[in-house]
Amino acid sequence: MPIETWDRVWTNASLATMVEGGAAYGIEHKAALAVAGGRIAWVGRMADLPDSAERCALDVHDVGGAWITPGLIDCHTHLVYAGNRAHEFEQRLQGASYEDIARSGGGILSTVDAVRRASEQDLVDQSLTRLDTLLAEGVTTIEIKSGYGLDTQTEVKMLHAARALARVRPVDIVTTFLGAHALPEEFQNRPDSYLDRLCDEMLPEVRAQSLANTVDAFCEGIGFSNQQVGRVFSKASELGMRVKLHADQLSDRNGAALAAKYGALSADHLEYTNEAGVAAMAAAGTTAVLLPGAFYFLGETRRPPVHWFREYGVAIAVATDCNPGSSPTTSLLLMLNMACTLFRMTPDEALAGVTRHAARALGLGDRGTLERGKRADLAIWSIAHPAELAYHIGANPCRAVIRAGEIVKTVEVV
Ligand code: NIG
Ligand code: FE
Repeated sequence: MPIETWDRVWTNASLATMVEGGAAYGIEHKAALAVAGGRIAWVGRMADLPDSAERCALDVHDVGGAWITPGLIDCHTHLVYAGNRAHEFEQRLQGASYEDIARSGGGILSTVDAVRRASEQDLVDQSLTRLDTLLAEGVTTIEIKSGYGLDTQTEVKMLHAARALARVRPVDIVTTFLGAHALPEEFQNRPDSYLDRLCDEMLPEVRAQSLANTVDAFCEGIGFSNQQVGRVFSKASELGMRVKLHADQLSDRNGAALAAKYGALSADHLEYTNEAGVAAMAAAGTTAVLLPGAFYFLGETRRPPVHWFREYGVAIAVATDCNPGSSPTTSLLLMLNMACTLFRMTPDEALAGVTRHAARALGLGDRGTLERGKRADLAIWSIAHPAELAYHIGANPCRAVIRAGEIVKTVEVV
């Protein structure tokens, strides 16, 4: 008979396992979930437990019918930055476009200026406020990009700050080098010289210090051309790093096909992506990361082609894109709502987009579903059905968060 085989077990739960291929949400009622050594050791109906919960684990939590989902994963953020761009928001409301502001030296470059002047500790302090709001909603893994330094020293400083966040909060942070985000002022009209610097100095330094897991770029009229992005991606591949791309956000640049050509983990934004690009993503196994916050905040009207992603079997992830210019949000739950209201995704698709498919977009095969052997990253919710996670606007029903089997947040329920 098993006696305290597991570290911890949650009983009387409804589970949204988010396992692929089953019914919507992978729902299991009257269920239990046990963890051992930071992993899910057992998941199923309580009636099928090998013994009484008390004999199975030292620590037993009766959640009284609450819902458990995988810990949420925000797979595309620019969370580390300094200052904000509320003044540009005012300019846009008076008629200037995001591109107009970028071309006149504002936009990304104004945040570059603020980040270059900030110390690493300033970046950590300013970013912690944003991170804490995300974590309170059940987020257990976050991707954070550089890209507001655009010189070796500042890109490295940003990535150090991102890594530092993981030492002071219970979260896994996946870092991405986004040196090809914009052309810095000192290289104005000399994009190729900047890319020489990026490929010969910046990226090798980031690699040498193991500061980034992946490499991203902004393929756009106000960013870099397909050929320039190709140079960056070739260098990344040479250094053994996977890539992802800000693709087809403001115009159709065949960005999705470019990402697929380099075996990208994800192509992100994708409002203007054409059908051939979607087919190429499907063939390459590239995940589509949709960012409804940026779509909303920039007042876009062209929706990403969700129907083609479904038709071609491209996995769809959803993320905040948390950044000061196009998506100043720290609510992943609000993105679930917007993915449904603005992009017509179903609540089940939206939740898969911040769990199983977000894990896939980050190349993390060890999380994103409630399955035996997966990391025990969980969120517990005071809801009556998982569709509520996408339904509410501005509510936070998260009542507990578990990371690698350890309880990191609890909210008393009376
Ligand atoms: O994902 N498009 C490029 N990068 C960000 C915006 C960055 C900024 O405006 O600061 C995005 O939308
Ligand atoms: Fe982005």
